[in-house]
Amino acid sequence: MHILALSGSTRRASTNTALLNALSAVAPEGMKITICDGLGQLPIFSPDLEGPDRPKAVSDFIAQIKAADGVIIASPEYVRALPGGLKNALDWLVSGEELIGKPIALAHASHRGEDMLTDLRRVLSTLSTGFAADIFLRVPVMKSSPEDIHALVTHPDTAQDARAFLIRFSEWAHSLAPSR
Ligand SMILES: Cc1cc2nc3c(=O)[nH]c(=O)nc-3n(C[C@H](O)[C@H](O)[C@H](O)COP(=O)(O)O)c2cc1C
Repeated sequence: MHILALSGSTRRASTNTALLNALSAVAPEGMKITICDGLGQLPIFSPDLEGPDRPKAVSDFIAQIKAADGVIIASPEYVRALPGGLKNALDWLVSGEELIGKPIALAHASHRGEDMLTDLRRVLSTLSTGFAADIFLRVPVMKSSPEDIHALVTHPDTAQDARAFLIRFSEWAHSLAPSR
């Protein structure tokens, strides 16, 4: 099972990206998690750029979504909402079929950000019947370094929460499409 991980933060030392990277290190057997690093390259969405004029960065992003068996998103809250870059990426997926029915779950690297989570949950449940709002991992590591986050999430004493989240998500994806 191939999972694509999207971070709402393009910050080099992003705690959300670090959490997604750490999840890839504790993924159960048979699950591979790839971090998508293309969100920052996407142009601002316009319906005029869909179809034959679609920029390559967008086609590459959509192809990655299509190829994935599931998507895990981790995002910071910006100004009490989801970051513009993440919303822009999701806007590019609205008119296609790639996200409809795609298993999606959220991870979150902060003890804060409830407004963003509410926003993102509303957007994702609009976009995909595969969004599982109840499959959620919160690791409150705001302001921690990527190294410390990796050490925490992969430590034998604490890795079970992350692994349990990933196993629940893989079971959800299997239930939607048993061939995954
Ligand atoms: C432009 C901007 C706006 C922010 N707005 C909020 C906010 O409204 N509420 C909040 O709790 N944190 C806010 N924050 C803090 C970030 O959500 C927080 O630092 C988060 O952990 C950063 O995630 P990252 O490490 O993945 O980049 C904001 C940060 C930035 C840069």
